[in-house]
Amino acid sequence: MARITASVFTSHVPAIGAAMDLGKTHEPYWQPLFKGYEFSKQWMKDNRPDVIFLVYNDHATAFSLDMIPTFAIGTAAQYQPADEGFGPRPVPRVIGHPELASHIAHSVIQQDFDLTIVNKMEVDHGLTVPLSLMCGEQDPVHGAWPCPVIPFAVNVVQYPVPSGQRCFQLGQAIRRAVESYDEDLNVHIWGTGGMSHQLQGARAGLINREWDNAWLDQLIADPAACAKTPHIDYVREAGSEGVELVMWLIARGAMSDIAQATSNNVASSASGVSVKHRFYHVPASNTAVGHLILEDA
Ligand code: DHB
Ligand code: FE
Repeated sequence: MARITASVFTSHVPAIGAAMDLGKTHEPYWQPLFKGYEFSKQWMKDNRPDVIFLVYNDHATAFSLDMIPTFAIGTAAQYQPADEGFGPRPVPRVIGHPELASHIAHSVIQQDFDLTIVNKMEVDHGLTVPLSLMCGEQDPVHGAWPCPVIPFAVNVVQYPVPSGQRCFQLGQAIRRAVESYDEDLNVHIWGTGGMSHQLQGARAGLINREWDNAWLDQLIADPAACAKTPHIDYVREAGSEGVELVMWLIARGAMSDIAQATSNNVASSASGVSVKHRFYHVPASNTAVGHLILEDA
């Protein structure tokens, strides 16, 4: 059967993609940021998954105010990087996994989560920047990402956005869906976006290191409690775009310790994950960058 063996969490600041595409990673401003991902790139090589289930948010690129799916699963064979205003990023197209994606859509909808099924879409920095950070630079024409990717887009841009609790439960349903797929596949699940940032309004530029790190501690050690964080706390403490962090709860909910705690009827999920890597860095554009790699203990 297919298994989820690890989760990866990272911010997705578009300027990070631009720094890579324009050869600026060794500049003093960017060097400390990219140093934090050296371990991660090696870990990706050593632990190459068969499929990445990549939870991210679209920034009015594939979707607009015309149509706002809360949860959208990509079932296409491939996805082109979008033009976000400066031309599409020079990175390889993203190869999908239509069979596994369709199976997950079927299973998760049967578990009462109503997903939007997307057979055609372009992907923006929310998806391509985490791939670049974890996999390094790739030749846009002759290169390729290390494995197929299932894009899973969450609306965190236009209210109403889903609660952390809903996202955490959805992660558990995704784990069950993956485990009911017959083929032996090693699947990694990624939660992306965040951490504290606010891009507009009177508090533009807001960063909250203390809150971000306390939230990371709780995501690792007591994710069931972390999932109860209300939206207003994200907005007040981590800024209006800090609410992107609810996406990390989907990936955390899909880890094996949560499934074990649920099947044993344990209300609070004592942490049973192994923290392979943890990194936090400010500044990167207007955003605090957080990054975790978790494996089943
Ligand atoms: C920035 C961060 C984001 O998450 C985003 O989607 C766009 C811009 C920034 O810090 O510049
Ligand atoms: Fe964003």
